[in-house]
Amino acid sequence: MEKPVTAIVAGAGNRGNVYGDYALRFPEELKIVGFAEPVPFRSTRFAEKHNIDSKNQFITWEHIFDVPKFADAVIITTPDALHYGPAMAALEMGYDLLLEKPIAQTWQECRDIMKLTQDRGRIVAVCHVLRYAPLHKKIKEVIDSEALGRLVSIDLIEPVEHLHMSHSFVRGNWRNSKESNPMLLAKSCHDLDLLRWYTGTRCKRVSSFGHLTWFKEENAPPGSTLRCTDGCAVEAECQYSALKIYYRNHQRLHVMDIPENVDKGPVILERLKNGPYGRCVYHCDNDVVDHQVVAMEFEKEITASFSMEAFTSYYGRRIKVMGAMGDIVGELEDLVIADFTTGKQLGWNVQEHADISSGHGGGDDGLVRDWVQAVSQQDPGFLSTDIASAMESHLMAFRAEESRLTGTVREVGAPE
Ligand SMILES: NC(=O)c1ccc[n+]([C@@H]2O[C@H](COP(=O)([O-])OP(=O)(O)OC[C@H]3O[C@@H](n4cnc5c(N)ncnc54)[C@H](O)[C@@H]3O)[C@@H](O)[C@H]2O)c1
Repeated sequence: MEKPVTAIVAGAGNRGNVYGDYALRFPEELKIVGFAEPVPFRSTRFAEKHNIDSKNQFITWEHIFDVPKFADAVIITTPDALHYGPAMAALEMGYDLLLEKPIAQTWQECRDIMKLTQDRGRIVAVCHVLRYAPLHKKIKEVIDSEALGRLVSIDLIEPVEHLHMSHSFVRGNWRNSKESNPMLLAKSCHDLDLLRWYTGTRCKRVSSFGHLTWFKEENAPPGSTLRCTDGCAVEAECQYSALKIYYRNHQRLHVMDIPENVDKGPVILERLKNGPYGRCVYHCDNDVVDHQVVAMEFEKEITASFSMEAFTSYYGRRIKVMGAMGDIVGELEDLVIADFTTGKQLGWNVQEHADISSGHGGGDDGLVRDWVQAVSQQDPGFLSTDIASAMESHLMAFRAEESRLTGTVREVGAPE
């Protein structure tokens, strides 16, 4: 590259820092030149990290677009409900985009973004980072090589893990489908996207079932209080005790904006007494499901099933790919690829073949690397996950959620 791609980050939280840190590690590829972030702690930290000129530090995303275009691209890492506004404004002004998933909260909004992308001829990558993870690339390569013969079906499970569920989808940012999205878009659009990508064909129909079964008031133990800090009678034995998770075990503290060089304890207690993470998991305003299954029929008679499960002691996707001549069993970092004709089994461990040090099994860096090339060369061909491909898997998620809510099989087909 002759010069780095310049980008503005909308939302300097967790993901904004993931992509921002790439710029610090590869300054010859990407330079962050501005940002919008309303939380002062995050704003100061981000400005210092990237040495951002004060005139390019904004409080909310709208302000980025009050000034003339001053970078090649905008990285949209705002909360789910704030993707549509900045995406449309950025495209209007001629910016390219790195757009966090899900694209937007409704199918119509996704269509608007897609149309504006096409009308303006912009480069838009959607952060389906798993397409860039070496393990998933290997599965795709084996399927495409026809080593398994004709692809027949795929079975994918995402064990969310019960504490992660409680943190992100009961107490945290993705607990409420109206404020963020239903689980299939907020969490499992990655999985539906993998299935669309692996099969290489269009999904024809979906049906889905799922419920919020456990994390609700009727399951609150006697003696529990609205917050774990309110003198709950069962706090000591509750696996979801916020005092245990955050205060005593210091887990998942990255959401609490704790300044460096301070006594963490009192800060955490204050956050638990007043913030979302101190709430009892049985007394939250959550409505997203804690278990959901999706059955899919693709073209060429390929079938697939997907399960999102909160109630596991483990996390990390497990996959089984069934071909007419062989299969793949994938668990975490390992694949076993079997050939029915020879009876041979080949073991493949991702650590032995690739650098997976960046997040999502190496997918985070892979995505940004291709995206900066695509923007730099103005060639969407570098992207495995452009907006057109993401639209297909988002449509599967929207239709599957409709199926769950209506109890009907929903047609998917081509995005219109
Ligand atoms: N690709 C993935 O695997 C992946 C993983 C996690 C999250 N995500 C998605 O990335 C997005 C961000 O998630 P996150 O985990 O970084 O959340 P986060 O809460 O850590 O970051 C979002 C940031 O946006 C800021 N913000 C809020 N309102 C704003 C406004 N009006 N203008 C500008 N900034 C504003 C927040 O203060 C926060 O710092 C979400 O859409 C989420 O679903 C994707």
